[in-house]
Amino acid sequence: MLILGINAYHGDVAAAILRDGDLIAAVEEERFRRIKHYAGFPRDAIRSCLEIAGAEAGDIDAFAVSRDPKAHLWRKGLFAIKNRPGMALIRDRAVNALSVRNLAQACAQSLGLDETEVAARMHYVEHHAAHLASSFFASPFDDAALCAIDGFGDFVSTSTGIGRGLCLAIENRVFFPHSLGVLYLALTQFLGFPKYGDEFKVMGLAPYGEPSFVEKIRQLVHVGGDGELSLDLSYFNHWSGGMTMTWEDGEPEIGRVFTPKLEELLGPARQPQDPLDSRHEAIAASLQRVYEESAFTVLRALHARVRNPRLCLAGGCAMNSVANGKIRSETPFTDVYIQPAAGDNGTALGAALHVWHRAGGSRRFEMRHGYWGPQFDNEAIAAAIDARNAEVARCCNRSRISSEQHLCDWTASRIADGLVVGWFQGRMEWGARALGNRSIVADPRRRDMRDIINVRIKFREKFRPFAPSVAIEALDDFFVGAVADPFMIQVYPVRPDKRDVIPAVTHVDGSGRLQTVSRESNPRYWALIQAFGKLTGVPILLNTSFNENEPIVLTPGEALDCFLRTDMDVLVMGSHVLEKTGRSA
Ligand SMILES: [Fe+2]
Repeated sequence: MLILGINAYHGDVAAAILRDGDLIAAVEEERFRRIKHYAGFPRDAIRSCLEIAGAEAGDIDAFAVSRDPKAHLWRKGLFAIKNRPGMALIRDRAVNALSVRNLAQACAQSLGLDETEVAARMHYVEHHAAHLASSFFASPFDDAALCAIDGFGDFVSTSTGIGRGLCLAIENRVFFPHSLGVLYLALTQFLGFPKYGDEFKVMGLAPYGEPSFVEKIRQLVHVGGDGELSLDLSYFNHWSGGMTMTWEDGEPEIGRVFTPKLEELLGPARQPQDPLDSRHEAIAASLQRVYEESAFTVLRALHARVRNPRLCLAGGCAMNSVANGKIRSETPFTDVYIQPAAGDNGTALGAALHVWHRAGGSRRFEMRHGYWGPQFDNEAIAAAIDARNAEVARCCNRSRISSEQHLCDWTASRIADGLVVGWFQGRMEWGARALGNRSIVADPRRRDMRDIINVRIKFREKFRPFAPSVAIEALDDFFVGAVADPFMIQVYPVRPDKRDVIPAVTHVDGSGRLQTVSRESNPRYWALIQAFGKLTGVPILLNTSFNENEPIVLTPGEALDCFLRTDMDVLVMGSHVLEKTGRSA
C-alpha cells in the first residue's frame, strides 16, 4: 500500500511516502523551489518522493493531507459570532480553507490524474493529529504520552494525549486564539526578527541576557496546573483580524501579531536594522524562561494524567532545542522522542502514518536517522563539476579519492589545518537541520572559527551558535546529562573542563545543540568524525548547514555554486574533492 503524505498551503510544505508502513522518502518543497519555508503546494517534493519510491502517480493508494477543514467547525463559528474578527482575517482563512478543500484538484492536475479518483482516495487528518502521529508512529515506543505545541493548525495550538500500539488519542486541546507558539512569535517580532521561522534566533540570543523581564512577560500568558493555557489577548491581535497571513506560493509571511500595549509593557519594539542591546537580550532571555515554565507545566499536567514515562513531542515549539534538553530534568518524563521535522513539514509524514495505522497497518517503522531525501551518485557529481569546469579549473585543484578511509583521513587533516569544508554525501536530510550529508564542517577547537564561517560564508547574526556533531562513543566525555540524539534537537551543557577544548561549538552559556553520530546512522560521517578524533583527540566537528542565506543545498550543482560564490576552502562531494588553491590555516 502506497500512501503519500502532504503538508500543503501552510509553512514548510512537504511530502512523504510510505510503502506498507515503511517510510521511503520525505522531503520539503523549499529545497526545490529555493525559497525558505516555502508555502503553497509541494509539487516537486511529491514528484521526488515518487521518483525515490520508483512509483507512478497512479500507484498511490491514499493521499493523506495534514489538514481537516471540517475539524472544530462549530468552535470556529462560535468564535466568529462572539468576537467578530476583521474581514482581513476572515478572508485569509476562507481562502486558505478553500485551497485545502481543492487539494484533490491540485494533486490531480500536478500528477496528471483524474480528480474524482484522487478525491476518492483523499484522507484529511487534523493538523495536530498529524503532528502527534509524526512523532509517536516514528518513535521506538509502544506506548507514550503525546504532546504537540505550535502556533496553530486547524484551530488548535496545543494537543496532548496518549499513544498505544496503533492507536493515538488526543485527550486535551488548547484552541485558538490561545497559543504558546503565538507568544513566542509575538516577542520574536517585537525583537525585530520579522521573518517566518525566526524564533530560533531569539532562542540563540536568550543566553546573552539576564531574565529581568520575566515578571512582565508572565503577564502575557497563564498556564494552570492542569495544563490549560490562555493568553492575555489585549497584547495580541492575531485573533481580532489586525494581521495578515500569506500561505500562497512563495515564502510565508505573517503580519505583526502584537498590539501597542506590548510596547507599553516592555518599551519600544526593535526595528530589524537596529542594533541589539542588553534590553533586547534580557527580553529574549525572559521569553525563553517563560516559554519553558509554560511548556513544562503543560508536560507535567500531561504526565499527571497519563502516568507514562515516555514522551513524544512535536509541533513548531518542539524545535525549541534549549527547552527540549531540559525536559528530563524539569518534568517526570524519562524518555523523549522528537523526530527531526517536528514543525509543520513533519505533518506530511504524520498524516501518512496516521492513515496507515488507522487502516490497521502494523507498527513497523522507527525513524533512527534523518536521511530521507534525494541522493546523487558520483557520475551526477562529476557532471555538475564538469558543467563549470573552466571556473573550477581557475581556482581549484580537482581530485578524486575512491577509498572511504582515505577520503575521511584526508578531509579530517584539512579540517584540523583550519580549513572550512563543504561535505556533500548521500541522501539529503529531512527536517531543518543538516546532519552530515549537506553540511559545512570545521574545527570546533578554534575559538575564531565561528567568526571565520560567519564572515566568509554564512553572513548571519554573530550571536547565533554553531552546533557540534559528536561521535556517539564520546558523548559523555564532552557533555553533561545528555542522551543520544541523531537529530540535533536537544541542547545540553558542555562539560566545564571541555568548554575551552571546543569553544567554537560552545554557546555563551556553556551549552551545545549536539548531534550524536553513530556508525549505524551515518557510516561515512561517523568515519570522518572518528578520523578527526584520531588526529586531534577530539571526535567532534562543527556542523552547520550547507547554504548561504537560502534553503540547504539539494543538488551537487547547488553545492558547487555555494562553494564557488563563498569563501569556503574545500568541497567534498561523494568521492570528488575540490580544494581552492593557496589555502592554508
Ligand atoms: Fe503545526
